[in-house]
Amino acid sequence: MKISTNYNITNDELKDKVVLVTGANRGFGRAITLDLAKAGASVIMLGRDLGSLETTYDEVLDLGYQEPILYPLDLEGATPEHYQQLQKDILDNFGQLDGLIHNASIIGTMMPIEQYDIKLWYSTIQINVNAPFMLTQALIPALNKSSDARVLFLSSSVGRTAKAYWGAYGVSKFAIEGMSKTLSEELEKTNIRVNSLDPGRMRTKMRQIAYPAENVDNNPLPETKSPAIVYLMSEKTKKLNGERLVLF
Ligand SMILES: NC(=O)c1ccc[n+]([C@@H]2O[C@H](COP(=O)([O-])OP(=O)(O)OC[C@H]3O[C@@H](n4cnc5c(N)ncnc54)[C@H](OP(=O)(O)O)[C@@H]3O)[C@@H](O)[C@H]2O)c1
Repeated sequence: MKISTNYNITNDELKDKVVLVTGANRGFGRAITLDLAKAGASVIMLGRDLGSLETTYDEVLDLGYQEPILYPLDLEGATPEHYQQLQKDILDNFGQLDGLIHNASIIGTMMPIEQYDIKLWYSTIQINVNAPFMLTQALIPALNKSSDARVLFLSSSVGRTAKAYWGAYGVSKFAIEGMSKTLSEELEKTNIRVNSLDPGRMRTKMRQIAYPAENVDNNPLPETKSPAIVYLMSEKTKKLNGERLVLF
């Protein structure tokens, strides 16, 4: 299903909503954080680099948007205990979670599977698949406390149509698609809606690593796409469940 990037954010449309974004410090996660905060949501900014998390946090405050919450955590090393602590922190401070956006990912390397470095394969699957699984599992009770909750998995075209040399990244996005669909069916009778989203190409570090020779100026800035995430967290998409979304 296609979702337009052309969405006008209205102030306070996500007022009183609490949304956790992984990889919130830079790239698409940063743009998502700014727009959710603009819409009045309290954003829990999860990331592993405190310095750049703080830079984005300062940007949000300078723009006069809703103050976010910093949550430093490395998804590669995090254990179920870390995720349980996170759920406790969310419930103690907010009593519920309204949105969970699995944005953080690593690209791994572009290489045939035959030669793929095994350690890098493990790291990519850990960050891109196992961490979203553990995070989601731990946070379902907090999402269940919301009257209208959303889980959004950031996917990719290579997670829907296989492409040679995309290795662990492509495989991880196929896994995310499966996790999203399975979860959407399991939670069908709850207030939690689950979807995956291919945002399309964006001018970020990940895209630069994947296509080092291309002219980056031809790629849209993540800020041109992030308003669609506010739409996907809003009342307007309350009925959307189990969809493979793509931005246009
Ligand atoms: N850019 C594109 O063209 C494109 C196209 C299709 C899909 N996507 C998807 O869109 C999402 C965002 O991509 P992007 O382009 O913004 O990528 P990016 O610029 O590489 O940013 C990735 C984010 O993930 C975080 N991250 C990586 N490993 C982590 C870990 N172990 N713990 C915590 N955070 C970690 C990074 O934090 P650090 O700063 O600490 O590294 C960074 O904030 C991804 O899921 C990607 O697959 C992107």
